[in-house]
Amino acid sequence: MSDHDEPTTVELKVNGVAYPVRVATGRNLSGVIRDEIGLTGTKEGCDDCECGACMVLLDGQPVNSCSYLAVQAEGRDITTVEGLADPSGLHALQENLLATGGVQCGFCTPGMLLSAHALLDRNPDPTPEEIRIGLSGNLCRCTGYARIVDAVTATAFPRAASGGD
Ligand code: FES
Ligand code: FES
Repeated sequence: MSDHDEPTTVELKVNGVAYPVRVATGRNLSGVIRDEIGLTGTKEGCDDCECGACMVLLDGQPVNSCSYLAVQAEGRDITTVEGLADPSGLHALQENLLATGGVQCGFCTPGMLLSAHALLDRNPDPTPEEIRIGLSGNLCRCTGYARIVDAVTATAFPRAASGGD
């Protein structure tokens, strides 16, 4: 057994909930979130840091979880797409993505939402160009991006007007 196969117990805090999991030290975070914790909103596409489908937030920063070791995420706040909505309903980004038709197959959507969320946190009133740059790590095969940019813009304006949430 190599060092990377050696199992260890870590506690991962996902969407505010602590999950103790026993994982091989070389295991990637996306696989652990999906298979051990059971949150399958995080998708695995390229498994090579290219597509952004596996994106999660670590302490508010977008990270491709296919290329991040689960053991390195211990002690960080991990947010997945399941953490965006609250009991009162979907997050405004989710509502606007549905309203603009920015979701087709939906495979890119979780990562896209998390990138957009991080973008609006650091820049509450981005230009369309800034949105495109902010989402440049997330590939979508379906929508052509315009509707996704529209959804982020629609979310940004009320946030900017009200000082954000
Ligand atoms: S699956 Fe992680 S970047 Fe594509
Ligand atoms: S909606 Fe299908 S990949 Fe983006």
